[in-house]
Amino acid sequence: MSDLSYLFNPKAVAVIGASAAPQKIGYAIVNNLIKSGYKGKIHPINPKEKEILGLPCLPAIGKVETPVDLAVISVPARFCVPVLKECGEAGVKGAIIITAGFKEVGVEGLKLERELQAVGKKYNMRLVGPNCVGLMDTHTPLNASFATGFPEKGNISFISQSGAMVIAILDWSFQAGLGFSRFISLGNKSDLNESDFIESCAADPNTKVILVYAEDVSDGEKFIRICTKASKVKPIVILKSGTSTAGAQAASSHTGALAGSNLAYDTAFRQSGVLRTDDMSDLFNLGRAFSTQPLPQGNRVAIITNSGGPAIIATDAIEKSGLTMARFEKETIDQLRENLPAESNIYNPIDVLGDARVDRFRLALEKAYEDENVDSVIVIFSPTAVSEPEKIAETILEFKKKYTTKPVFAVYMGGKTLEKGKSILVKDNVPTFTFPESAVKALEGMARYADFRRANDTPPALPLPKVDSNIVKATFYDVIKDKRVLLMGYESSKVLDAYGIPVNHTYLATTAEEACQISQKIGYPVVLKIASPRIAHKTDVGGVEIGLHNRREVEKAYNRIRERVGRYMPEAPIYGIEVSKMIDEGVEVIIGMSRDIQFGPMIAFGLGGIYVNLLKDVSFRLASALNNRKAIEEMIAETKAYTLLKGYRGQKSADMDTLIDAIYRTARLVQDFDEITEMDINPLRVHTRGATGLDVKITIGQPD
Ligand code: ACO
Repeated sequence: MSDLSYLFNPKAVAVIGASAAPQKIGYAIVNNLIKSGYKGKIHPINPKEKEILGLPCLPAIGKVETPVDLAVISVPARFCVPVLKECGEAGVKGAIIITAGFKEVGVEGLKLERELQAVGKKYNMRLVGPNCVGLMDTHTPLNASFATGFPEKGNISFISQSGAMVIAILDWSFQAGLGFSRFISLGNKSDLNESDFIESCAADPNTKVILVYAEDVSDGEKFIRICTKASKVKPIVILKSGTSTAGAQAASSHTGALAGSNLAYDTAFRQSGVLRTDDMSDLFNLGRAFSTQPLPQGNRVAIITNSGGPAIIATDAIEKSGLTMARFEKETIDQLRENLPAESNIYNPIDVLGDARVDRFRLALEKAYEDENVDSVIVIFSPTAVSEPEKIAETILEFKKKYTTKPVFAVYMGGKTLEKGKSILVKDNVPTFTFPESAVKALEGMARYADFRRANDTPPALPLPKVDSNIVKATFYDVIKDKRVLLMGYESSKVLDAYGIPVNHTYLATTAEEACQISQKIGYPVVLKIASPRIAHKTDVGGVEIGLHNRREVEKAYNRIRERVGRYMPEAPIYGIEVSKMIDEGVEVIIGMSRDIQFGPMIAFGLGGIYVNLLKDVSFRLASALNNRKAIEEMIAETKAYTLLKGYRGQKSADMDTLIDAIYRTARLVQDFDEITEMDINPLRVHTRGATGLDVKITIGQPD
């Protein structure tokens, strides 16, 4: 565990490149440290000055006689390496390098950044940045940054890869009434990255929710490991920008074409309990919600409103989300009927009507809160000439204080006339929105996280399967020796067989006579396919013939395939023709794999066959997550293929145990052999008993 307390609560801080000139960053940092109320020693370092902002200034960090935990460096890039060395010699534990001009500017900068990393390693000194704004902890208090201002004390930690975002959000937070525990600008992440800070914030007693703005994740495996643990303690919400599909476009397999890095991020986030948002407002709405509200005990929402239209919009949003409209108990309905005007809607949403004053809202709030079928409450209010926005706000607060286990959200739909009411709510920590969809979105995020926390148990891992990795190694060796990356069908079939993944055995014939002999042995009907390393899509060149029932048909098909392929692709080297048994019974599914640069192998499962890319009925998981039965069952259940497998319209159900085992073993195979870059078993036919992989495509590269 990286503690990092020397960064957030250092005993003493040195500012190297401190300046007496108010327009310089070195001045702003010293000034921020003083103004934040930091109680430790501040040592400005500058060879030209004797005193900066009333503090004695020393020429070099080596001259400081007492220990310094943290150095903030703001000297030009060319001086950073020697300055960092001096810090190391002086026993500094952590350094924030504000300076820009490193890897973000090109090769020379990258070289300099590598030197910084080496110095950090040598002295066991952790680095923040370079090219960052710095960091803050409002509880220490410490402002080791050059940002303008210091946030209100609160319980949200914000970690940002963009420095500009740190500065902008900080400025915005004052008017938004949002309090923070920590602000962290990651910069170039030469050493410490988002995972280190997520881990540190999860351990920070003053942080209740962790918000992250990330353009990428530095180390996928570490990220998943840390977030899986941290998200069981605190919610982590990430806005991930830069959702490229470049990887998907370059892929040659079905799975690769469906995947892409954005999906890998989605999968990794979900697997590790991280909530993902697509925009800044959702990120901070969720931050505010988690920061101020208890986790909902379930997904059932009550809506109280004085306006029909917005309540319908909210109801629609709830129906589309993972939330549900609460069904009130009979007693609640009876009491609402007794006490509200006859025109009111007493079922959910409770419509207290446009002329409602505070007493009707009070009654509805009381009944909704007391109802055991309600897990959370949304109050939607539109101003009318007779309504009382402030009094209603105060009443909401009253109930929030009384019923501490049910979250409440307010939607105050309007502008100027509602400002006072809104500020009452915001001040006392009720998430308040102008439109209902945002409230529903934030509540849904909370409910999703609460679900994740409730399902906290880690299912037992399946036993390691018996496999023969030597056969796989030998097969790959032959393929590489042959200067190929794509395995032939008969080679793929050997690999699957070695891992116990059910596969239709494929044999290579080099003459029509040999094809006939093989067919005789394996039994008719058979399928013939061209075997050439240059031909990936065999059907397109007339390289496949199916349903061959006897010797004569096999012989003729063999010659036809050779003739057609010779005509379409005369230059393609032909190894022969593959013969396999024709199997057309069972549900066609796909098990595939594509490898993400950050998160490693990702398994796809869904409806198989030639329409995979059209139907896109596919679910994804990182292979590392598929180590238990529950995870694999959930993956299958997410697809429409699941309905077919269970037995659609009177069909017998397919062999789920064999399918689960096949997915498990495929996940094992691609984790054991990182030289497999892409893989499709498509289709895998799942029978009522057993399964058969019919077409297998495995592409290999160099092992990592
Ligand atoms: N030890 C101590 N002090 C030193 C040393 C040293 N080895 N070398 C130089 N100094 C002093 C200088 O004498 C100067 O002090 P002075 O004001 O008394 O003359 C001070 O350090 C700063 O050095 P300058 O040469 O004046 O450099 P300047 O302050 O103009 O720039 C800076 C330094 C700010 C680090 C600049 O190089 C830089 O990187 N700017 C960009 C920062 C940035 O944008 N970071 C990314 C944030 S992300 C975002 O904003 C979106």
